[in-house]
Amino acid sequence: MELLGKVAVVTGASRGMGLEISKTLGQAGIKVAMLARDPDRLAKAVQEVRELGGEAEGFPTDVREWDQVERTIKDVVARFGTVDIAVNAAFWGPPASIAETTPEFWDCTIDTTLKGPFFIARAVTPVFQQKGSGRIINIGSLAGKVGEDNRTAYCAAKWGLEGLSAALREELKKYNVHVNLISPAATDTPWWREVGAELTPEQIARMIPPQVVASAVLWVISQPDNVSIPDIPIFNFRNPFEGKGSPFES
Ligand SMILES: NC(=O)c1ccc[n+]([C@@H]2O[C@H](COP(=O)([O-])OP(=O)(O)OC[C@H]3O[C@@H](n4cnc5c(N)ncnc54)[C@H](OP(=O)(O)O)[C@@H]3O)[C@@H](O)[C@H]2O)c1
Repeated sequence: MELLGKVAVVTGASRGMGLEISKTLGQAGIKVAMLARDPDRLAKAVQEVRELGGEAEGFPTDVREWDQVERTIKDVVARFGTVDIAVNAAFWGPPASIAETTPEFWDCTIDTTLKGPFFIARAVTPVFQQKGSGRIINIGSLAGKVGEDNRTAYCAAKWGLEGLSAALREELKKYNVHVNLISPAATDTPWWREVGAELTPEQIARMIPPQVVASAVLWVISQPDNVSIPDIPIFNFRNPFEGKGSPFES
C-alpha cells in the first residue's frame, strides 16, 4: 500500500505502543487520528506526534461505547476525508486471580480489549467497502496464544481477538480489506509500572522496545495487496522473568 497521505485511526494512542505507532505512522506521512479516553494525556501525545513532523488530531473516545466509536469515525472522515487504516492497540487488563476477576472486571477487560476492536472494525467497514480497500491491524499478544497465570480475562480477550481477526479476514477479503494481527510478548510500556511490576534493569533490557511493534505495523501496511500476512508474532529473545510466564505468576 502506498502510504503517503493515507489516514490511520489508532486506538490506545495516548501512551505505550499506540503512541509509538502514531509517531511512526506520522513520520511516514500518514495522517493519524489518535483515540484514547483521557483528553489531557491524549492532547500531549498528539503534540509529541506533531513535534516529530506528523499530522495528527486527537479524538477522545471510549472504545467500549458503540455510539462514541461510530461518532468518532464520522468525525475522522469529516476531518481527514476518509479512513484507510485502523490500528487497535487500546486495552485494559491488570493481572488478577480468578477470585479477583469480578463480573465487572471481566466485562471491562473484554469490552476494552475485544469488543473495542470489533466496534472499530464495524465502524470503518462501510468506509472501506466504499473505497474497495482498507487495513485493520489488531495488536494481539503472546497471551492470545498461550495461557498465563492470573490473566484469565486478558487471555480470553486476546484469544478472542485472534478469532475476531480470522473471521474479519475472511469476511472482508471481498472488499480488498486486509486484517493483520501483530502479537508481541513483554514490551516495555508504562503498563507494567502502573500495575505494580517491580522490574530490574535486566528485565527491562529483555523486553521488546515498543518501537519494534510500531515498525511491524508500518512494515505490514507497506506490503502489496496480493500478499496476506495473518500474524506477526514478536517474542522476547530471552525470557525477562526467568522461568516464569510473567512477574504475576503465583
Ligand atoms: N505491554 C506489553 O507487554 C504488551 C504485551 C503484549 C501485548 N500488548 C498489547 O499491546 C497493546 C498496547 O499495550 P500497552 O502496554 O502499550 O498499553 P498501555 O500503555 O496500558 O496503554 C493503553 C492505552 O489504551 C487506552 N485505553 C484504555 N482503555 C480505553 C478505552 N476504554 N477506550 C479507549 N482507549 C482506552 C489508554 O488511554 P486512556 O486510559 O486515556 O483511555 C492508553 O492510551 C494492548 O493491546 C496490549 O494488550 C502489550
